[in-house]
Amino acid sequence: MSDVKEILGSYSDDIINVIVEGLSDITPESLQEASIYLTKAGGKMLRPCLALISAEAIGGKKESAVYAAAAIELIHTFSLIHDDIMDEDDMRRGMPSVHKVWGNGVAILAGDTLFSKAFELICNSERENVSPLQITQTIATVSDACVKICEGQAADISFEGRYDVTEDEYLDMIFKKTGALICAATKAGAITGGASEDIVEIMYDYGRLIGLAFQIQDDYLDLVSDEESLGKPIGSDIVKGKMTLIVVNALENASEEDGETLLEILKNPNSTQEDVDIAIEIFNKYGSIEYARNIAQDNVDEAKQLLEILPDSPSKTALELIADFVLERHS
Ligand code: IPE
Ligand code: IPE
Ligand code: MG
Ligand code: MG
Ligand code: MG
Repeated sequence: MSDVKEILGSYSDDIINVIVEGLSDITPESLQEASIYLTKAGGKMLRPCLALISAEAIGGKKESAVYAAAAIELIHTFSLIHDDIMDEDDMRRGMPSVHKVWGNGVAILAGDTLFSKAFELICNSERENVSPLQITQTIATVSDACVKICEGQAADISFEGRYDVTEDEYLDMIFKKTGALICAATKAGAITGGASEDIVEIMYDYGRLIGLAFQIQDDYLDLVSDEESLGKPIGSDIVKGKMTLIVVNALENASEEDGETLLEILKNPNSTQEDVDIAIEIFNKYGSIEYARNIAQDNVDEAKQLLEILPDSPSKTALELIADFVLERHS
């Protein structure tokens, strides 16, 4: 796993430089600071690194994907700022969330600024000799992911207070809110790197599968991790009554009594750590955590199989390691 952190670290500087330069002309200062704040706080940079590594793995140059990669990190950051407003979460990347520091107004605008800048950055790809067609395809890929993020986030909100959400509904929701941007990253990397249509589709599918596993692990970490390693609040999903695969499976399988207890906890906006622990006991009793992990593991295995079509290279190995990392990670 430290391998993957090192790999991501080795690709991050190029992306951060493009982001810092891209945001340098924003005024007033409050909007500029709120816009760059989370990049400075430092995230894993998984999505932009996936774009660069995908460009290399299909035989292209990472430089071709650098603007698309930076754009995708900006879209991710925009979605985090708005997500923390929606989820009423006060911490992100180990720092007070943007809306806590600047208020909802500037936070919404910072998100909108990052969203818009992302598309400007993609257009800069011509500096790396990316063709107009590849740039158009990249814009289409990223804008499709943005619509899906909004659809997924809207579905996520609409599931609050609904306790009959099915596994398929959950999987569709997380594909949209989280998987869509991860597969936009691998697809954009493949497009700008010059892959054939078939390979672009395979890279998209690889991203989709690890993206699903990534959110299943995110839901799991929200239950069992700690705020310090995660850099964001834990137990937040239980407090908000969020539907996760673990919850959906437990509600499906629990006895009437355990089901009632779980529902009470989910419906209580003031649930405590003790309540979260009781919920975890119920999840363990019905094997729901293991069930969710197995589904995520199947997705990771399938994703790695898709990579077999690529020629061996350090970048292909990196993609295999990243597929495992999404489930092994603790933060
Ligand atoms: C968090 O993503 C948001 C989700 C889609 C679950 P990351 O866990 O990749 O967050 P950073 O970028 O490392 O902070
Ligand atoms: C967020 O899902 C997905 C986004 C589009 C940002 P979560 O709400 O679970 O993400 P975290 O746990 O706050 O990072
Ligand atoms: Mg959230
Ligand atoms: Mg959310
Ligand atoms: Mg989460």
